[in-house]
Amino acid sequence: MQCLGDAGVCRLCHFVLCVCVQVVELLLDSCLSADGELEGLSEDFSALEVLSLCNTGLKSLSKLPSLPKLKRLELSDNVLTSGLEVLAEKCPALSYLNLSGNSFKDLSAFKGLQKLSSLQSLDVDEDEEDEESWRERVFELLPQICFLNGFDQDHNQAPDDDGDYVEEDDDEEEDGGLFLGRALIRIRIGFIAIV
Ligand SMILES: *[C@@H]1O[C@H](CO)[C@@H](O)[C@H](O)[C@H]1NC(C)=O
Repeated sequence: MQCLGDAGVCRLCHFVLCVCVQVVELLLDSCLSADGELEGLSEDFSALEVLSLCNTGLKSLSKLPSLPKLKRLELSDNVLTSGLEVLAEKCPALSYLNLSGNSFKDLSAFKGLQKLSSLQSLDVDEDEEDEESWRERVFELLPQICFLNGFDQDHNQAPDDDGDYVEEDDDEEEDGGLFLGRALIRIRIGFIAIV
């Protein structure tokens, strides 16, 4: 287990016991990014499983750090146009991705997700003109996904979440959750014995 150092969340070490705090969930919705770039997230956040960056003015994912445990990424309502291939490299365990409300021109932008083999569920803006053939083309382009905008290829609805995701509009402090300004973090505490 890795201790958080530079991220400065907390690190208390005694002679024999080290208390490590890992951020597993980070919700930064509506926290505006500088110049549309992702700033401030470093590899110290390598324990992250859920990251939410809705409506942050994000234009690029090029500064995404390596997040090997990330399973859920919310990127809706940003201004992304391309560069999705970085996700396969930095977040190889990603299974849920929400890209709705971005500025992708056409389906070719999603080609960058082809190498993201763990992806199961994808949310993107639909082509309202011809929804049926649009869905077919996305499933063809990304054969690994099971659910597109919440439904599978046979129009069955995706099962509910496993519930460990915090609703964004919940103003109350959650168990293990902590509000820092507008951000919500969820942490996991571990102990390491040092001999
Ligand atoms: C994806 O994001 C949009 C916009 O925020 C939201 O309406 C939609 O419910 C999200 N999809 C899921 C499955 O949460």
